[in-house]
Amino acid sequence: MKRIALIIVLVILAVVAYKGPDSLIGLAKMTRTASPETDRVENVLGQARGVTGKKVLVAYFSWGGNTRTVAKLIHEKTGGDLFEIKKETPYPKDYKPTVDIGKQEKEQDARPKLAGPLPDLKQYDVILLGYPIWWYIEPMPVKTFVEAQDLSGKVILPFATSGGSDIAASVEDLRKTLPGAQVKTGLLANMTGRIDDWLKENGLLPR
Ligand SMILES: Cc1cc2nc3c(=O)[nH]c(=O)nc-3n(C[C@H](O)[C@H](O)[C@H](O)COP(=O)(O)O)c2cc1C
Repeated sequence: MKRIALIIVLVILAVVAYKGPDSLIGLAKMTRTASPETDRVENVLGQARGVTGKKVLVAYFSWGGNTRTVAKLIHEKTGGDLFEIKKETPYPKDYKPTVDIGKQEKEQDARPKLAGPLPDLKQYDVILLGYPIWWYIEPMPVKTFVEAQDLSGKVILPFATSGGSDIAASVEDLRKTLPGAQVKTGLLANMTGRIDDWLKENGLLPR
């Protein structure tokens, strides 16, 4: 009887522990703090032509490092340029204050200032745009980035990592934000197995 009571208490504790925004975090590598400076990847600019001859930019925002890992992997495959989107005032290292700030920015539909300089986006044929899903869509600094320059006619390929949410709502949101651009079907890259096919489908890897 005691054992059953203990099991019930443990189950309740587990459920409570998983409630709230924490329940949104589900990747193998849990992003409980921002990635350390040592995880940073240098921007690669000025080599725009990718392996299939198109001028390619992989631009990404990442707080915990998951999306950075995927962006780097994609860039290794496609070639071209690589750029990390950073806020002028970075998010805190700790999870809870980041959630508070991110939530406020989302509710206010804010466009947080970015750290510059930004690459000149005119020169690219294709922009692969990576981000973590925050409250089902792209974080607000990504919106600042795509609105900073005229992307009419550009091909945008969104990719994301998440704790389980799909990428579709963010793709819809990007299409509304960028009515003149061709925002293609996105790739949720929590598992990396589909990356090559997605790149081939979009002419960024030879078939
Ligand atoms: C502020 C915040 C909001 C989040 N919102 C969601 C969400 O709505 N859905 C989801 O599946 N994951 C959500 N997550 C989890 C992240 O999308 C996931 O851990 C992602 O891989 C983090 O990428 P990063 O390490 O590049 O920052 C959220 C994480 C944070 C910090």
